[in-house]
Amino acid sequence: MQNPLKNLINNKFISNLLSKKKPDEFLEQSSRSGLNKTLTGFDLIMLGISAIVGSGIFVMIGSAVVGTNEHVGAGPALIISIILAGIICIFPAFCYAEFASMIPVSGSAYVYAYATMGEFMAWIIGWVLMLEYAIGAIAVSSSWTGYFIQLLQGFPFLPQCIKNPPVWLINNYTAIAGTPLAESVPHLFGIPICFNIPAIAAIIIISAVLFKGMTESTNFAKIMVFIKIAVIALFVIVGAFYVKPDNWTPFVPNGIKGIELGIFTIFYAYIGFDAISTAAEETKNPQKDLPIGLMGSLFVCSIIYILVTVVLTGMIPGNQIDITAPIAHAMRFVGQGWFAGAISIGALAGLTSVLIVLVFGTTRILYAMARDGFFPKIMSKVHPNYKTPYVMTIISALLMIAGSLFINMQVAAELCVLGTFSSFMIVCIGIIILRYTEPERKREFKVPFCPWFPAIGAFLCAYIMYRAMPDIKTAAAIFPIWLLAGAVMYFSYGYFNHRKLEKSVNYIETSADNEKTGQKVC
Ligand code: ALA
Repeated sequence: MQNPLKNLINNKFISNLLSKKKPDEFLEQSSRSGLNKTLTGFDLIMLGISAIVGSGIFVMIGSAVVGTNEHVGAGPALIISIILAGIICIFPAFCYAEFASMIPVSGSAYVYAYATMGEFMAWIIGWVLMLEYAIGAIAVSSSWTGYFIQLLQGFPFLPQCIKNPPVWLINNYTAIAGTPLAESVPHLFGIPICFNIPAIAAIIIISAVLFKGMTESTNFAKIMVFIKIAVIALFVIVGAFYVKPDNWTPFVPNGIKGIELGIFTIFYAYIGFDAISTAAEETKNPQKDLPIGLMGSLFVCSIIYILVTVVLTGMIPGNQIDITAPIAHAMRFVGQGWFAGAISIGALAGLTSVLIVLVFGTTRILYAMARDGFFPKIMSKVHPNYKTPYVMTIISALLMIAGSLFINMQVAAELCVLGTFSSFMIVCIGIIILRYTEPERKREFKVPFCPWFPAIGAFLCAYIMYRAMPDIKTAAAIFPIWLLAGAVMYFSYGYFNHRKLEKSVNYIETSADNEKTGQKVC
């Protein structure tokens, strides 16, 4: 006797979950999207640097050396961690370059998973990418507030209420819960009233800029890149005179475990180069420019990071590094306090440019998912004048503001790294699959030594995640809940709406064909 459930699963359900979208379909869909194609290879390198250099090197480097209340740090051996983290990035960067030059459309790993592993994996990866981009943006906006207040404090003529605003206007509650500061927060009907106003303002302003269009945002991002690179260069040059080799002893205070956790924590500093691929659809010559943008920005940032880490750990004993503003503090430590103000300006520029790219990536990935019917149709609307996905831009801003009310920076950064490692793994595996399923497809850029390079990339990402999980308890607990929430959304809405959209598209196409041949459609 036949089992109807088994039949259903075999014939329809599973095959729907595994249904793939051909790269040509993405290309055809993107050619109809109406997004402006304005970005060049140089723009993409700038976009990459603006996406990469931010709170990782200005803030997280401190906890990567010293550790957090949940785990140990790498000590001066962070120099090894940062080199290894850069090497790990090379493998997925190669894979992103191959994919993006082959399918140059908005949507990043979501699109690549859809082309290789089917609809369900694509949805899950799109959802996981929200950890990297939207939750990453929340982490960056929280650190933005810290440096903003530090900058304000550098102006003696400002009133005290501006230089030292009330705690409840510059933090969310999770950031201060359990500390004495939590007692100063006003309550309404027993609920603590606590907003990080500068972080919220930063998200609103950046979303407004992106609403208007990419050209304005890349010009703005270029200025920010220039400022942050100038400040970092100054730090390296001035700081180099204060390096004492004694500070590098003991070099590996927490053994291999410390180095591994250092890789996990500082990996956050490298996040962002993949965002270049989300701009593929707005790039003039994607086949050539995307690999240049990806590899170029990764190379420049790796050099910057290695130099900063060598100088920072050489200037100051590992256990005395400050975890909130490590670079500014290191300058004060060696008696160059005048430099702290400049660091704040550089850090703010860095954080702002990272925020632009993370918000940009969030809107473009969600836009790609909405275009495929996984969200309501209205969310895929492109603005008639600005040619930007304006509805998704507004919705993303509202969601990030809501998130910034609840998530604290350290956990947000760890979730962001977990999301990034997961998406890198999928992209590496996707390259191997597509080499076997579509060997003939034209590839302007090819990952060398395939399948070895992608396989090594996927393995290294999985290994670092696996090793860090026991030490990042809060983020490790939220991660599976996030995945589950994504699966529930897909099975309760996305799965059905996507099929509805497919049917209506088929109907319209069939009607058009029949009109041409003179047939009637019932
Ligand atoms: N790489 C980005 C930063 O460091 C996320 O802020």
